[in-house]
Amino acid sequence: MSEATIESILQETRRFHPPAEFSQNAHIKSLEDYQHLYDRAKADPQKFWGELAEQELHWFQKWDTVLDWQPPFAKWFVGGKTNISYNCLDRHLTTWRKNKAALIWEGEPGDTRTLTYAQLHREVCQMANVLKQLGVQKGDRVGIYMPMIPEAAIAMLACARIGAPHTVVFGGFSAEALRDRLIDVQARVVITADGGWRKDAIVPLKAQVDKALANGGVPGVENVIVVRRTEQDVYMQPGRDRWWHELQQTASADCPAEPMDSEDLLFILYTSGSTGKPKGVVHTTGGYNLYTHITTKWIFDLQDTDVYWCTADVGWITGHSYIVYGPLSNGATTLMYEGAPRASNPGCMWDIIEKHGVNVFYTAPTAIRAFIKMGDDLPKARNLSSLRLLGTVGEPINPEAWMWYYRVIGGERCPIVDTWWQTETGGIMITPLPGAIPTKPGSATLPFPGIIADVVDLEGNSVAEGGYLAVKYPWPGMMRTIYGDPDRFRRTYWEHIPPKDGQYLYFAGDGARCDKDGYFWVMGRVDDVINVSGHRLGTMEIESALVSHPAVAEAAVVGKPDELKGEDIVAFVTLEGTQSGTEELQKELKRHVVQEIGAIARPGEIRFTDALPKTRSGKIMRRLLRNLASGQEVSGDTSTLEDRGVLDRLREGA
Ligand code: PRX
Repeated sequence: MSEATIESILQETRRFHPPAEFSQNAHIKSLEDYQHLYDRAKADPQKFWGELAEQELHWFQKWDTVLDWQPPFAKWFVGGKTNISYNCLDRHLTTWRKNKAALIWEGEPGDTRTLTYAQLHREVCQMANVLKQLGVQKGDRVGIYMPMIPEAAIAMLACARIGAPHTVVFGGFSAEALRDRLIDVQARVVITADGGWRKDAIVPLKAQVDKALANGGVPGVENVIVVRRTEQDVYMQPGRDRWWHELQQTASADCPAEPMDSEDLLFILYTSGSTGKPKGVVHTTGGYNLYTHITTKWIFDLQDTDVYWCTADVGWITGHSYIVYGPLSNGATTLMYEGAPRASNPGCMWDIIEKHGVNVFYTAPTAIRAFIKMGDDLPKARNLSSLRLLGTVGEPINPEAWMWYYRVIGGERCPIVDTWWQTETGGIMITPLPGAIPTKPGSATLPFPGIIADVVDLEGNSVAEGGYLAVKYPWPGMMRTIYGDPDRFRRTYWEHIPPKDGQYLYFAGDGARCDKDGYFWVMGRVDDVINVSGHRLGTMEIESALVSHPAVAEAAVVGKPDELKGEDIVAFVTLEGTQSGTEELQKELKRHVVQEIGAIARPGEIRFTDALPKTRSGKIMRRLLRNLASGQEVSGDTSTLEDRGVLDRLREGA
């Protein structure tokens, strides 16, 4: 976040109260109601979560113990048996919701489809049977690499139904990145599509899968299921590749949901950290189901007549928790959109809101900033009066963007929920409850009931005026471990801050402040993770990608504040031997990063240099590079710099 943004946030005094009419009909109607829930949860968390689990979910068998906490390893609803696909589908079939729209899909170019709960259930059962026929058993991992089409949700639910953990890989990731993830989870089956639509172009997903699997690239993948989406020609490897629609045609629609242990693995989702390769974040069944269910219900204040739209991609945690599992578990109507605003259709989001009468709209600050740039005329030309609640996620929202969203999109009548959370937390942690908590532009406000959050120093002492965001007590949606690496889990999240008074603290990796009303202001990452357009990237991953190019000797990647994207990637690169840093090489290196990771990791800027600023012990001084990248004066101590001339040369180079 830029200094200017931080300054403007710190001076923020505006406050917006929930409209009375909204509060009257809301699940949580007042600040007192919120406070009561919060206090109750804090006083006896296990009772609080246990009661909710009983009221809100179906269990084949009730648990013996709500929480088994062996820090940092938690088990929730121990001994309980449930199935999230059952909770998302079957239990609605015996109610009037059977023929309610579960999923409304807006595809590109102009395709649409609506699936009722009964229809979705049928498709999921069939796909679950297909997976079984292909030999997928409970516990086997399935890779999903899909565009934003209903089949993505169907595939996830089918896996959950038979107890096969899924790993969804965002369709924008490269074949290389896909391969790494499939290898790490030892996937048996991959579900993909011939292609997907993105901004008037076709993304060749199947070709990327072929590349990832080429030459035994991922041992163990026996089958690839391919959805026909774009109808382009794709290579189908005999014996390995099968068409989704052909398999579905002959599959039985009778597939009872497998009773899963509450702690059985539900999915693994990869996310970037400061060090090493992306980590496989593990989420399990019962706790995740409860947490996404209840956060969706209270934060998006879902009413049975609502059309709810979250614009994320199912390849990210937001798509998992708040397009698929949370809304469907609540029996809601969830809208899914394959496209994105683009020059040829800049008003598409507002068209969809008008067309479907969307009531709840959840998007990212980076999207809001792009909407602002496209001008007020586009939304103003549409009827957005169906909207009653707006949400944001993924990065800090600057107050100006918040105000624009509030005025132009929300017509000054819709509360805004700025939701802070992470892949690791499973669900939203700090957020307004829209009928209860007054909002301040730029603040995620208060912790969800049951979440004990704090801003602390590295000793674990509360430091409201600025420190590290931490969580003090386990919660049902929390990640359970890093797939295959429990030590890394412990080191990454639980050892930065030592236990305080016997209490373990979850280290989120974000900097934050807490104001006198107890409101949280999340300032951004404090580690070597950058947030580009709401996408989380490790600087080290991008550095490794750069260094894998033969021309590159060393690379150091930092983020610099960007008006539209939040942050942009700047790479400082030294070259091998006599290579010279040409414009052509800059382009080639950008292409190379895209090929290694995906377009989301394309550096905005590559700067060649003869050396990187290092300490005498050889550590790259990133702080200096961050200063240089954002055009600021180099601040702080430079006395440990080995070669002081480097700084001057870097400045000149810029
Ligand atoms: O830095 C925080 C930022 O996004 C990070 C989590 O990224 P990811 O795991 O990809 O999940 C994104 C969607 C949940 C956090 O560590 N972040 C997320 N939401 C907010 C945010 N920063 C400020 N305000 C938010 N509302």
